Amino acid sequence: MSAIIIDGKATAKAIRHALKAEIAELGLTPGLTTVLVGDDPASEVYVRSKGKIAKRLGFKSESIRLPAKTSQPELVEYIQRLNADKTVHGILVQLPLPAHIDEQVIIETIDPQKDVDGFHPYNVGRLSIGVPTFIPCTPLGVQKLLEAYNLDPFGKHVVIVGRSNIVGKPQALIFVQKAAWANATVTICHSRTQNIAEITRQADILVAAIGQANFITADMVKEGVIAIDVGVNRWEDGTLCGDIDFKGVAEKAYAITPVPGGVGPMTIAMLMYNTVQAAKLYR
Ligand SMILES: NC(=O)c1ccc[n+]([C@@H]2O[C@H](COP(=O)([O-])OP(=O)(O)OC[C@H]3O[C@@H](n4cnc5c(N)ncnc54)[C@H](OP(=O)(O)O)[C@@H]3O)[C@@H](O)[C@H]2O)c1
Repeated sequence: MSAIIIDGKATAKAIRHALKAEIAELGLTPGLTTVLVGDDPASEVYVRSKGKIAKRLGFKSESIRLPAKTSQPELVEYIQRLNADKTVHGILVQLPLPAHIDEQVIIETIDPQKDVDGFHPYNVGRLSIGVPTFIPCTPLGVQKLLEAYNLDPFGKHVVIVGRSNIVGKPQALIFVQKAAWANATVTICHSRTQNIAEITRQADILVAAIGQANFITADMVKEGVIAIDVGVNRWEDGTLCGDIDFKGVAEKAYAITPVPGGVGPMTIAMLMYNTVQAAKLYR
């Protein structure tokens, strides 16, 4: 079988194109501010690419870099200032934060109406009950990818490996909703799951968000699976790979996302989408 390769780059480009038209109608400039504390190289890369795309879309985009020694009260105060700034519609604090800062305190300091990452408990609660809200960018991007390829999760068994608050759990909440591009039967697996391969082999749609290179091998999936790889891992030579053994699984899959070029570009596109929705709240 030759699998459909789900092209996240092209899908993200089409979404950005549609957003440009939406922004033109908006009558105001969406403002996105990213806050990076410390100098984690991976975070630097993420923040830079988010800023670049925001600028390309015509956003007022600002990246604030604070030293690693910034105290929690200082960061809280900074965010409160951004909450009060009417030109800032979306605030993104790049995670992880230095160990001396409590991430949850910071997430809960962001005004829920500017929480374009969708991590604030207010927005997580709204997602869980299925009312409009800011949805975390990566799992939202996964749903939009399926939609772009007309791969409807309706009635399908979606197995998600990973239960983080930023990917696995919100992904499950998205697909379990009684809503379009959802209505799935959802199973979540994690590091304490017994006989994981027995469960992943039942997946019609498998979402891997683990953080371990090539964890999902061909023997762990069934023929015709739709395989979505959220993982981003780096080999020693610097090349990227996902959590799914692409070569092996593609032999059995109906459709599969590559790494890079699958879910990653969608995450950034969804951040831009959420920021435009946040700006609309200020019209
Ligand atoms: N493409 C993107 O835009 C994007 C965005 C976000 C994240 N990512 C990538 O996605 C991956 C996951 O990110 P995350 O933030 O969700 O990671 P995380 O917070 O470290 O969560 C990883 C999850 O995988 C589970 N897990 C770890 N080892 C396992 C094993 N051997 N068997 C079964 N489950 C296992 C963990 O289980 P426990 O809960 O039991 O520990 C946890 O729930 C990473 O590679 C990250 O870089 C990509």
